Order: sequence, then structure tokens, then C-alpha cells
Amino acid sequence: MKKILIVFGTRPEAIKMAPLVKKLYKEVDFNTKVCVTAQHREMLDQVLAFFKITPDYDLDLMKKNQTLNQLSAKILSTIDSVLEDYKPDLVLVHGDTTTSSMVALASFHKNIKVGHVEAGLRTYNKSAPFPEEINRQITGRLADFHFAPTKQSQVNLVKEKVDINNIVVTGNTVIDALFWGVKHINLDRKDIIEIKDFLWKDKKLIVVTGHRRESFGDKFYDFCSALKTLSERNDVQIIYPVHLNPNVQEVVYKTLKNAKNVILIPPLDYEAFIWLLNQSYMIITDSGGVQEEAPSLKKPVLVTREVTEREEAVKQGTVKLVGTNKIKILKYANLLLDDESFYNSMAAKKNPYGDGKASAIIIDFLKHNF
Ligand code: UD1
Ligand code: UDP
Repeated sequence: MKKILIVFGTRPEAIKMAPLVKKLYKEVDFNTKVCVTAQHREMLDQVLAFFKITPDYDLDLMKKNQTLNQLSAKILSTIDSVLEDYKPDLVLVHGDTTTSSMVALASFHKNIKVGHVEAGLRTYNKSAPFPEEINRQITGRLADFHFAPTKQSQVNLVKEKVDINNIVVTGNTVIDALFWGVKHINLDRKDIIEIKDFLWKDKKLIVVTGHRRESFGDKFYDFCSALKTLSERNDVQIIYPVHLNPNVQEVVYKTLKNAKNVILIPPLDYEAFIWLLNQSYMIITDSGGVQEEAPSLKKPVLVTREVTEREEAVKQGTVKLVGTNKIKILKYANLLLDDESFYNSMAAKKNPYGDGKASAIIIDFLKHNF
């Protein structure tokens, strides 16, 4: 029986790999184990708990504010013993993190095949998203099987001379997770009840997230300043679950702690977060995953990034790229709040990132090609 090792380390990788893990566990053709690097800790553990996944290996690598080089070195040196212990035939990694690129490299060094889930996203700008664009390209060079979420990502890989027979267009597993997630939300959760208590029914709810490294510094201050001005409108309420990266926490709390109509909270468990997205009027975010989830929930999104590797939703009109420029953020936020036809033109669209069947397509490919 073929042995598969699924490795991930951060919140979004865990969310996007969870449906695949759960499905692979049921497959008799494969023996599947899970290893977490724990590049994230609290934000990872809450996802594992919700999806009821108990890792077989936990490298426990998170340290407060560690550098990318420290983390990369630790992943390379500690994953070795896992690969030696389990001896997988295939390692599956996800997306664009330090965990993905370093685990793909370690597997290649050991002559183990690599499957890349969410393959082929590109900006071809090594500074944005930083360092994710390069992580994706490294993993793409090393992978044997490429699970591309969209046709566009398949085209990108073909242009890079990846054999088309080793690419399969799957949709994004984030939608598989979302469909499962919305069915399993427990509305009696303490955090959901608490949020319900402070939601003002007569105001439009704007959910915000932001954590990208390429925006740290002045750009992040501009973004926060736009939120502060926006919050002066009496008809809005902004809720921002703040990412645990200390570089994010410091600026957000310093700038927005006392802002009118702004509620800052710790990162929410996935279950509570997707519930909150559903309550929202609109979303302002730089998150990849949130951009992909939002069209399924029919929520318009302003993306606070200069470039995107997720062109599909921009082309379709459900997502608008506004960067971190204060004037542009305010222009489009105010338009969405005031102009019903503009709002409707962004809200009611089909999701280009899939229909919740990505994990099944990946497993089907593996059964026939591996
Ligand atoms: C990482 C990924 C990024 C992804 C993001 C999702 C890389 C280089 N970056 O960025 O692609 O979009 O995760 O959120 O792989 N921290 C905690 N607890 C946690 C998680 C993080 O305290 O549960 C703090 C720690 O101080 C940690 C810091 O955040 O050192 C940064 O974490 P890290 O994983 O290095 O980078 P992210 O910015 O979270
Ligand atoms: N998310 C969450 N709690 C939060 C904010 C986001 O569970 O407080 C989920 C969100 O639904 C999405 C994922 O985290 O599935 C996105 O992760 P993040 O924005 O950290 O990373 P990215 O997608 O940008 O890599």
C-alpha cells in the first residue's frame, strides 16, 4: 500500500488540507499520516480541533517573531527524521509557505515524490507576495504532481514547462473546507454568542483582516489609517480579528485601539470566523483564503494588495484590488456602502475557485496516476 505524508504548518494550510486529510483517511488504497511543522501554533491548533485531526508528527517549531531563515533551517533539519521514520512514497504540501517550500526541498533531497496542492499561482513579482511568490515557484520546481485550483494556474505551469500530464485542475480545497465548515458551526459557541452581543444590528458590518509581510511599515499604517477614517461613518461597524504576528499586532492596536466603531479581537477560530463572514456586509482583506471564500458567501471584497496571484475573482468582479492607498480604499469602501447597484454588481457571482469537489479530484488523480 502506498504511503502518503501530508505536511502543513500554518492556519490557512491546515484549513485547505483538512478536507483532503479527512477524505484520504477513508481511502483503503493509501496509508495516510499527517505531520505539522507548527510554523503557527495557536492559529493551527484551533483548525486541527475543529476538523478533528490529530497529527502523527508535530515538530512544534513556532517561536515568537522568528526569522524566515531560522524557521527554514529548523524545518529542513527536523523533517528529516519524520521522512526516515515513516518512509512515505509521496509527500503532499500546500501553497506558498516556508513549510511548503522547505518540506518539498527536504523530500526532493530524499528522492521522495512531492504533490503540490494549490499549485501554479503566480504574480512573477518576487516582492509581492513576499516571500510567498518565491515559495510557490520553489515548490513548483520540485513537485512531481501539481494540483492547480484553476485553469489559469494550469496555464502558468505549462508555460514553465511542467508536463501537462502531471497537472490536474481541481478547484480550491478551501471551498471543500467552507462547505463542510458551514454545516458544522456550533452557534452556541462562547465566541459567537459574545460577538452577537456587541453587533449593532442597525450598522453595516465590515470584517477586516491583514497580515502580509510586503505591506509592513508605511503601507500598513496607511491601511490602518483608512480604516480609522472609514470608522467615522455612523452607519458602519468594523470587526478586525488581528493576526498574531507581532509586527501586525503592534501597528493595528497602536492605530485603531480607540477608533470609533472598530472592534479589535484576537484571531477567531475558523468556525466562528466563517460565521462572522456570513454576517458581514463587505470584507476588506489581504488574505488569500478569505478572497477565495468570499464569493461563495456572496460578499464583496476589497483586497489591500498591489498585485494578485488570484486574478480570477478580480476578472469576475467579486473582488477589487485597492492596494494600501488610503484614498483608493476609502473610495471603493464608500461606493460599496452608498451605491446599491455597485454593491450588487460585486456581490452576486459564481465562485471561480470551485464547487467543493477539489479533494475528491486530487484523490482520483492519485489513484490512477500514482
Ligand atoms: C505565514 C505564511 C504566509 C501565510 C500566513 C497565514 C510564510 C513565510 N508565511 O505568515 O504565507 O499567509 O502564515 O496566516 O510561510 N504567531 C503566533 N501564533 C500563531 C501564529 C503566528 O504567535 O499561531 C506569531 C509568531 O510570533 C510568529 C509570527 O506570528 O513568529 C509569524 O509567523 P510566520 O508563520 O512566520 O509568518 P506569518 O506572517 O504568520
Ligand atoms: N481565518 C480564521 N480566523 C481568522 C481569520 C481568518 O479562521 O480570524 C481563516 C479564513 O477563513 C481563511 C484563512 O483563515 O480560511 C486565511 O488565513 P490567512 O488570512 O491567515 O492566510 P492566507 O490565506 O492569506 O495565506
